Amino acid sequence: EFHKEPRKAELASDGMAGKFDRQQLQRGFQVYKEVCSACHSLKYVSFYQLTDLGYSEAEVKAIANQWATEVPSVNPETGEPATRKALVSDRFPSPYANETAARAANNNALPPDLSLMTEAREGGHDYVYSLLTGYAEQAGYKNEKGQELLKEFPDVATPPGLHFNPYFANLNIAMPPPLVSDGQVTYADGTKSTVDQMAKDVSAFLVWTAEPTLENRHRAGWATLLFLTIASILAYLSYRNIWANAK
Ligand code: HEM
Repeated sequence: EFHKEPRKAELASDGMAGKFDRQQLQRGFQVYKEVCSACHSLKYVSFYQLTDLGYSEAEVKAIANQWATEVPSVNPETGEPATRKALVSDRFPSPYANETAARAANNNALPPDLSLMTEAREGGHDYVYSLLTGYAEQAGYKNEKGQELLKEFPDVATPPGLHFNPYFANLNIAMPPPLVSDGQVTYADGTKSTVDQMAKDVSAFLVWTAEPTLENRHRAGWATLLFLTIASILAYLSYRNIWANAK
């Protein structure tokens, strides 16, 4: 294991009482829309779900209608494959027609669907956050023992077309650094869009795409604990009551 352990993103949704910060989810969606969606689909998320982030139905309609990638369809007259504008009922489409086209555009690597990425990788959203900000640490990266990482493989340099990233499992990733400069996205809520902020926000958004009902689970956990506490007290009191006269 030569790759680095992820750094903590510290999101509002973390922990047992965690809740989504909807402003942050909207900013994260903006990053996904303006940067990541050029290469990554969100095939388990539908446009209509965006109302959950606080967008109005009219806003969501407009977002779907103006989406850069059209949705696969058929020409009703000829039956030939065609595309059409996205509807609110559609999932976020892949920007590529198929795997061959996706690989052709990415040095033979396949940009994975991001819907469940914060669940799929060890480290979850901390991993995504670290990966996105990890490129910056490329020069002179040292491991926990202070050793230059690449010195452990003196004959190995990052191959052309790949990018060194100490958080990626095999250290060389085909994805070029997607977040490179502060201000790359202009946030609707006026938040300063540093690379770190954009990485955090899109990681928070991807926690939501992977588990939009996270808050229900947290609430149900607390309700369950409260119920079990009361049930335990009642059980203890009835035990005292039932055995009150026993010598
Ligand atoms: C892989 C996130 C933008 C191309 C990945 C992975 C994540 C990710 C989490 C998986 C890494 C792994 O397998 O552990 C993002 C985010 C983006 C973004 C959050 C926006 C901020 C882009 C863009 C491109 C791209 C714009 C294309 C220019 C790829 C490719 C891979 C990949 C080709 C596969 C890498 C490999 O297997 O070596 N991305 N990405 N990504 N991404 Fe992105």
